[in-house]
Amino acid sequence: MINKKFNFNINSRDLFSLKVPATAANLGSGFDTLGMAFNLYNIFNIKKILRPGEFKCVTSGEGTEELSDVKDNMLITSYLKACSEWNVKDALGFELESCNAVPFCRGLGSSSTAVVAGVLFANLINKLNISEPELLRMMTLIEGHPDNVAPCFVGGMVASCWDPDAKTLKYVKLPALPDDLYVIAAVPDFKVQTEEARKILPSSVPFKDAVFNVSHAALLCAAWATGRWDLLKTGMDDKLHQAYRAKLFPGGEKILENIKNYKDCLAVAISGSGPTMIAIVKGKAGDLASEMCRIFTAGGVSSHFFILNCAPDGVIVEINN
Ligand code: HSE
Repeated sequence: MINKKFNFNINSRDLFSLKVPATAANLGSGFDTLGMAFNLYNIFNIKKILRPGEFKCVTSGEGTEELSDVKDNMLITSYLKACSEWNVKDALGFELESCNAVPFCRGLGSSSTAVVAGVLFANLINKLNISEPELLRMMTLIEGHPDNVAPCFVGGMVASCWDPDAKTLKYVKLPALPDDLYVIAAVPDFKVQTEEARKILPSSVPFKDAVFNVSHAALLCAAWATGRWDLLKTGMDDKLHQAYRAKLFPGGEKILENIKNYKDCLAVAISGSGPTMIAIVKGKAGDLASEMCRIFTAGGVSSHFFILNCAPDGVIVEINN
């Protein structure tokens, strides 16, 4: 995949360009294991190679304020971490342009886009020829959430599992959603840090709740693999995290409770650790998207929405040198 060239060229003078998709992790029952990539992208262009240790970055779009400082830029820190783990001496610096469409700190995998891109640039710029399993291992090690990085890298809907013995990420890519099914992502103007959203989860859960999630996640994967979209609502039901996290932001509990009852809604979930809420719909998505945003407004927070498709291809790489 890494050697393929694709034509999304923004500026043919860029040395390397990556088009990296947003993701929704968990999908309800699949906590820390399931994730889906969307056709909403951050684009990262390498304009120039610089001397080791020298980095420049220009950011536009989402997260512009947060990402202006090079030393806090997650793409650059991931690049340096991957270079160091792969024993690259004097890793080259670069001039980076980030054009970000993925909302920042909203549960749509913006940090995964940066980590995936940083690791891929480490491989490309330093001509390391790293294998795909090792790239994924490195991305998982740095980001910590395979349910974001795996679909971000390979695309589609992905079930992934860290194998502690082999120290690799095992994954299976399921078929993308059919074209007539859409994903609404309703994004409130409210940030949730994943770290905080993990701290509020209980340290142990009743055995029956663990069994509930295992059976529902298994049903979800089987339904997805066989096109039984009528089972998504049941399959995405969860008892491990959503009830706790939906309290962290206004409107979360109401959207989880109400939206699934609408005729065209196949399932609803918190995207990653929130606060974005996703709904999978068949048919007209606009009315339901407006209703989700109306619930955010009633909770006192403004919001916007995207109507998205599943991105089947993951990262798109362009090499111009
Ligand atoms: N599975 C992770 C979580 C994803 O829900 O905490 C974080 O984006």
